[in-house]
Amino acid sequence: MTESLYPALYILAAAGFILAIKWMNSPVTARRGVIAGEIGMLLAVIGTLLRHEVINYEWILIAFFIGSALGVPLAYLMPMTAVPQRTAFSHACGALASALIGTAEYYRHMPHGFAMGALVLETLLGFLTFTASLMAFGKLQEILPTRPMTYKGQNYVNLGLFGFAVAVGITLILSPERTWLFPIFTVLSLVFGVLLIVPIGGADMPTVIALLNSYAGLSASAMGFVLNNKLLIVAGALDGSSGFILSVIMCRAMNRSFSNVLFGAFGAIQSNATQAVQRPVRSASPEEAAEILDAARSIIIIPGYGMAVAQAQHKLREMFDVLCRRGVDVRFAIHPVAGRMPGHMNVLLAEADVPYDRLAEMDEINSEFPRADVALVIGANDVVNPAAKTDKNSPIAGMPILNAYEARTIMVIKRSMSPGFAGIDNELYYMDKTLMLFGDAKAFVASLVKELNANAGGR
Ligand code: TAP
Repeated sequence: MTESLYPALYILAAAGFILAIKWMNSPVTARRGVIAGEIGMLLAVIGTLLRHEVINYEWILIAFFIGSALGVPLAYLMPMTAVPQRTAFSHACGALASALIGTAEYYRHMPHGFAMGALVLETLLGFLTFTASLMAFGKLQEILPTRPMTYKGQNYVNLGLFGFAVAVGITLILSPERTWLFPIFTVLSLVFGVLLIVPIGGADMPTVIALLNSYAGLSASAMGFVLNNKLLIVAGALDGSSGFILSVIMCRAMNRSFSNVLFGAFGAIQSNATQAVQRPVRSASPEEAAEILDAARSIIIIPGYGMAVAQAQHKLREMFDVLCRRGVDVRFAIHPVAGRMPGHMNVLLAEADVPYDRLAEMDEINSEFPRADVALVIGANDVVNPAAKTDKNSPIAGMPILNAYEARTIMVIKRSMSPGFAGIDNELYYMDKTLMLFGDAKAFVASLVKELNANAGGR
């Protein structure tokens, strides 16, 4: 009876995963998507536990407690800004599980033909994703140096090692009996994972993590073929394709190619922005800035990485409320790669309960800037840098930007004149109509709220 139940549970679980991805497409339905995914995973686990292949529940229970003891604190203790590295760590665990299952299957059953091909793919992707994800975790957590580490001929060395691993893998597929090759194959895959990440800078990690997500998914899908588990094939393929699509979207939004992210060592050569001669800028105090906001009828707020660092979203929400109460039209312009992970700004603003209908995507809002009284940039830099349009040699040349420069007045909250992720100067700061509001985003917005309230009280 229980044996006949699991295929039905698997179908329901697969439906849950597909709905999860669909609903996570929009912030309005994202919560529902997460719940659908969780129910899907629960059904998948129950279905698997009902299978007759399970011979020992004690070990599963022990693993369950160890996994929960690690996973639960990880979920609660890691701050929002650390989500990219938390994701990297989860991928490392998933990929290792997949690779170890592949290894166990090899030594227990030594499959031949197609199944051995799938096993080789599973273990190659599993082991390389394991070490690559750990490296990504280390770089994002700044345990490892975040700068790209490069040397001459690096890409050839990496490609050569990968070619060698693939050759060993193919030999194993053709003659699985050569068991002595398997440890060599394992070590090559592990080392390749490390070398793959060495030349990539910390800030490019989110894109790489989306790609590693895709590899981990493909590894799980291959594992489905090895174990003859259809749900794993479906879930792995969903994971593999969505991770891949996400990394393509991220690359496109930065106008960078895949090869540039993977092999370009972005961030290795710092532009001369930091050594550039100091040029004069206009700055303003919270009082002056609040007066300008007070007089505005339409304001477009552009949040960026600095808002996330300062955790300024709640204060920003307070300012939004104060301005809305005065009848000011306030909207948030969201650049697809603002911050350091996909949907970074959406998640933070949702956390502060900013209404979704006040958030606008880049394509939707760009035509509105010429009519905006104020473009208020909060901890964003590259995503409003006109050099993307005007300077063909800029590292961000061609990247679509939010046209903040077209607003009547531009105000920029940041701590200094330091560059952002791309390491380049920003002409926006030197425009006549730009006011620099120097300070930490949270503290500055808090002062603005205070001033706005004081102005209202004085009326
Ligand atoms: P950035 O260009 O990185 O600029 C962030 C700015 O925030 C900095 O100039 C910094 O200036 C300021 N800042 C930092 N801490 C602050 C604080 N506590 N208070 C106030 N300001 C603070 O950010 P962006 O405009 O969001 O652009 C994102 C960049 O990351 C793009 O180049 C994008 O390609 C890249 N990227 C994004 C992703 C995803 S998926 N989002 C993935 C990989 C790479 P100060 O130091 O002077 O304060």
